[in-house]
Amino acid sequence: MPTTISMSIQLHIHPSIDAAIKKVAQEIITLIHHKPDAVLGLATGSTPIPLYQELVRRFKLGEVSFKQVTTFNLDEYQCIDRTHPESYWNFMHRHFFNHVDMLASRIHLPGSRVEPLELARHCQEYEDQIKAVGGIDYQILGIGRTGHIGFNEPGSPMDCRTRRIHLDEITRQDAAPAFGDLLHVPTHAITMGCGTILEAKHISLLAFGSKKAAIVREAMLGPITDQISASFLQKHPSAAFHLDHGSAAELS
Ligand code: PGA
Repeated sequence: MPTTISMSIQLHIHPSIDAAIKKVAQEIITLIHHKPDAVLGLATGSTPIPLYQELVRRFKLGEVSFKQVTTFNLDEYQCIDRTHPESYWNFMHRHFFNHVDMLASRIHLPGSRVEPLELARHCQEYEDQIKAVGGIDYQILGIGRTGHIGFNEPGSPMDCRTRRIHLDEITRQDAAPAFGDLLHVPTHAITMGCGTILEAKHISLLAFGSKKAAIVREAMLGPITDQISASFLQKHPSAAFHLDHGSAAELS
């Protein structure tokens, strides 16, 4: 059984990554059983990959259908084709959408080659599309070493909305192995804003391993600051951190 402590952010320390993934997947499936047209906010990165594998597994067992589900991804790199192996469009199809019964028309990610003149309209449309379906019911988040949620790098205000952002060098370095070289990592992305994310009805942040321990402590227990956008989750009425022992190691 996980240790659950009640604070402004709900803290779940799970005995293993697998246990954390199973718990979050079950929450999503239970939501869809109650609300088949649920709206999910989805994250990329290495952390949620086993979550998508578990949701695909449960789909294949016939335990859940995503036919009426709508999804919005947090972010997308700029200036690469969406068919690029590291685009988030590609990532999501490879790890999740291609293996379940999602309708293409209900899948949303920011564009990957948005022209400067189109940018404001594109970002506003993303916000409008989220509002048009009644907002996000359940948002999955990872956390970067800069404390970002989505790609809201240090300096992102709590009320910022979907926009183009310059990626922090730490974020780019972390992405370099996937792109083969730092030079190939995009410098910009479009990300949902902190204000957009905080409007989700429930938020589950996943963080595993000791590499995340310091930033998890800062986000949960440190001051609420635009230098660590995950710290804004302390203000959310229904935000949970799902950790393993490694990422929880610095919470006393
Ligand atoms: P990771 O990325 O899951 O690959 O650690 C998390 C993030 O940057 O949000």
